Amino acid sequence: MSSVVKPSEILPLRIARVTLSDRAAAGVYADLSGPEIERVLREQLGPEHEILARLIPDHRDKLSALLCHLCDDEQCDLVVTTGGTGPAARDYTPEATRAVLDRELPGFGEAMRAVSFAKVPTAILSRATAGTRGRSLIINLPGNPRAIGECLPPLVPAIRECLRHLRGE
Ligand code: MTE
Repeated sequence: MSSVVKPSEILPLRIARVTLSDRAAAGVYADLSGPEIERVLREQLGPEHEILARLIPDHRDKLSALLCHLCDDEQCDLVVTTGGTGPAARDYTPEATRAVLDRELPGFGEAMRAVSFAKVPTAILSRATAGTRGRSLIINLPGNPRAIGECLPPLVPAIRECLRHLRGE
């Protein structure tokens, strides 16, 4: 079964991808995860959507502020983060996300852990969550580029449906 969306089924979206990584932000290595989110979203949703790219260090308050800016000022329909969801001391992404959500949608995190646990036992170390802020949907993904290809495609039908609800359709 294909979850690829025909372009006519969804209005052009404003999307942001946010990579959380101290080392990628410092230039120690390249950010592979952000471009991977973009590749999967274009494959799944079509090429016509606008995708803003951001790369910041793991910092709780900076992430909360950036999420507010992307939702409230940039009016993004969808904001997808990658990284900072694990149990390490500097993994703050779920806390920074929850702090700015109106409503949490825990099913996104539950689904990606369930899908990934069947492939990698360490998938349950991700505390990724999701939810809405105004008319925006925010989703956390793990930082591993391979995890993005595994976790994101199964979420697409629920992303489409959620965006319709947020647009009042
Ligand atoms: N999910 C998938 N599909 N594949 C993976 O390799 N890595 C796990 C988990 N989820 C992984 C995964 C590991 S080892 C960790 S620590 C957590 O994601 C959190 O990663 P993050 O802190 O980079 O977000």
